[in-house]
Amino acid sequence: MQIKRLVVGTAVVALALTMTACAGTRGGGAAAADPAANKGALVGVAMPTKTSTRWIHDGDAVKAGLEKLGYKVDLEYADDDIPTQVQQISNMLTKGAKVLVIASVDGTALSSQLDEAASKGVKVIAYDRLINGSKHVDYYTTFDNYKVGVQQATSLLEGLGVLDKNGTDTGAKGPFNIELFAGSPDDNNATFFFNGAMATLKPYLDKGVIKVGSGQTGFTQVATQGWQADVAKKRMQDLIASTYSSGKKVDGVLSPYDGLSIGIISALTGAGYSTAKLPIVTGQDAEIPSVKSIIAGQQYSTIYKDTRKLAGEAVTMTNDLLTGKTPAVNDTKSYDNKTKIVPTFLFQPVVVTKDNYTQALIDTGYYTAADLK
Ligand code: BGC
Repeated sequence: MQIKRLVVGTAVVALALTMTACAGTRGGGAAAADPAANKGALVGVAMPTKTSTRWIHDGDAVKAGLEKLGYKVDLEYADDDIPTQVQQISNMLTKGAKVLVIASVDGTALSSQLDEAASKGVKVIAYDRLINGSKHVDYYTTFDNYKVGVQQATSLLEGLGVLDKNGTDTGAKGPFNIELFAGSPDDNNATFFFNGAMATLKPYLDKGVIKVGSGQTGFTQVATQGWQADVAKKRMQDLIASTYSSGKKVDGVLSPYDGLSIGIISALTGAGYSTAKLPIVTGQDAEIPSVKSIIAGQQYSTIYKDTRKLAGEAVTMTNDLLTGKTPAVNDTKSYDNKTKIVPTFLFQPVVVTKDNYTQALIDTGYYTAADLK
């Protein structure tokens, strides 16, 4: 009886959580906030770097959205440097920020700043990248990061001809030689991307349809510190020299981010691969140089993540927290930051190739046709 009641009780709680997750409405009350006192409050927005345009668009859009609601914004970029970001967040707290929106450089390096934030009643929203190891992360908004990896690997298999456009196995036998790249080990997203991709590639690796020529398949072997294009380019050059020097060709490269894809393609062309017949190279972020490369038939695919939606969600969450509402979430199970499961609002990523870039990127107003000329 006792056990049964417990089970039923758990089910009710689970149902309630699911309903909250699916409701998509913004209930009142849970966040202790005084809307009058928070009118025109300062919000700190910490972005990781300007080397990739996506973060510039993210930062600009969050700032514009918050300012439209009458908030003041301190927007900072950290140059991919951990101490710089730590200092920027400390300064935001000193200046009296009431909410911090943080896209971290290193998701584990901010614990003492977040302790300070919590002691001052400042709410923290992790933006795109989860902050790990601190219970003072109130909300998270991101794209479905595991799915990004699944989509990258699926498009790699499709480009190789192992899957057709509907994702159906074509029966192609290969073996196709591929190489794997992953993102920065200090970015929580990087393992989600890699795990999603590897789960998708595994059946084909097991069957021998695809082969990792270098044998380097572990996350730490293939990770790219700081998401640096030069690091990826150098590793691709080393792989070509060590594994592909005797006539063997690379057929495909799993690349998790457009900046790395550009470096990888440059290593390949530098080693004599023709731009007219490059290996299948994936990517992420729909950065303009990569979309142009896709249109030119060089990079095969990218993953489009509409940063306007993500920025809009961060603005809504911030406003909710400052006006005493509970932000809506749609995922309460995926993002465990090692101290808690952080309530998350997830968006869906979209694969972009030469076939659909017009519908995905131009028709949606993300870019103009002129941007891609
Ligand atoms: C983001 C990706 C981006 C990468 C490098 C990740 O955290 O989710 O969109 O490509 O960082 O900036």
